[in-house]
Amino acid sequence: MPNKKPTILVTGGAGYIGSHAVKLFLERGFKVVVFDNLLHGYREVLEILQKLGPLEFVKGDLRKKSDIEKVFAKYEIEAVLHFAALCSVNESMEQPELYFENNVLGSFNLLEAMRKANVKKIIFSSTCATYGETKYLPVDELHPQDPANPYGESKMLVERMLKWYGELHNFKYVILRYFNVCGAASDGTIGDSKKPSLLLMQNAVRGAMNIEPFFYTCPTVKTPDKTPIRDYIDVEDLVEAHFFALDYLKHGGQNQILNLGNGRGFSVKEIVSEVEKVFGIKMKKQKAPARKGEYAEIFANPKKAQRVLRWKAKKTLRDSIESLRKWYERRPEGYRK
Ligand SMILES: NC(=O)c1ccc[n+]([C@@H]2O[C@H](COP(=O)([O-])OP(=O)(O)OC[C@H]3O[C@@H](n4cnc5c(N)ncnc54)[C@H](O)[C@@H]3O)[C@@H](O)[C@H]2O)c1
Repeated sequence: MPNKKPTILVTGGAGYIGSHAVKLFLERGFKVVVFDNLLHGYREVLEILQKLGPLEFVKGDLRKKSDIEKVFAKYEIEAVLHFAALCSVNESMEQPELYFENNVLGSFNLLEAMRKANVKKIIFSSTCATYGETKYLPVDELHPQDPANPYGESKMLVERMLKWYGELHNFKYVILRYFNVCGAASDGTIGDSKKPSLLLMQNAVRGAMNIEPFFYTCPTVKTPDKTPIRDYIDVEDLVEAHFFALDYLKHGGQNQILNLGNGRGFSVKEIVSEVEKVFGIKMKKQKAPARKGEYAEIFANPKKAQRVLRWKAKKTLRDSIESLRKWYERRPEGYRK
């Protein structure tokens, strides 16, 4: 007999944000199945999380239909949290085909497997990169979408698929457009294991702790200090919004698209100087080449998410930096690969 359990499926649950979501949902009494190909995820984080509650891992690739179909045949899935994706802007500018195959085709295979298994609730990890260069600030959900890179485009295409699966196949979804995610678990047990990270604050903290030299990518852009301005949201605040989003769908909520941000923009220079303040040091900075597909300034209007989910980001930049310090103190080298 197959092992049939009511549970949530977390694609990409061995990655940075997905693993923090798994932690929160286990702590709140859920059963979790993680589906991940371990390209950018780690088995070790799942071993750590398995101590918190019922967690099963299926190694598989969304690009392969049969891999994901097997999950729905084996487990009684109640809802899906869909984190699995490639998410490097830079890489997407070099190899756009990877992004369309992995993020678009991969998500299509997931939606089809869900449709066949009659599982219709999904929380999708989208991104502020679907907006592109901003026409006004702060950016609300009605802001036009014109991605400046194939990564953002791939996410926008999935949003469009979801719209039609919602209208024509009665899917219930919450699309969460994340702004820049930062921080680690506040108990220091799990965090971002990429070396270097794709994310500014993590790399600045690694630099401040002398784990590796800190290169900061600073295209000259039209902002007061000429460095890009972004909205930073702590990973624990972010995954909590997923918990409320699932609860919202379970209570019959309508399909939604919501920004997840703090509503404040910080420049690259401001983030670096906040890290320096927390550590009480001045860092040596080495300029890295500007990334392609970047834009000057973006920050969220997060009011809709606050109203619909009754959720608000609570953590400060300092909280996120402290959580990263704790994580990197325990694991300067990250997880075992
Ligand atoms: N990190 C950010 O600041 C940020 C901002 C906006 C949106 N997002 C979105 O959040 C999600 C999670 O991002 P992250 O930072 O945790 O990235 P991550 O790379 O740490 O995690 C992604 C996980 O998905 C897995 N994966 C990728 N392709 C797969 C496939 N075809 N089949 C199975 N597993 C696959 C990887 O192995 C990895 O474990 C992504 O969808 C990303 O686009 C992230």
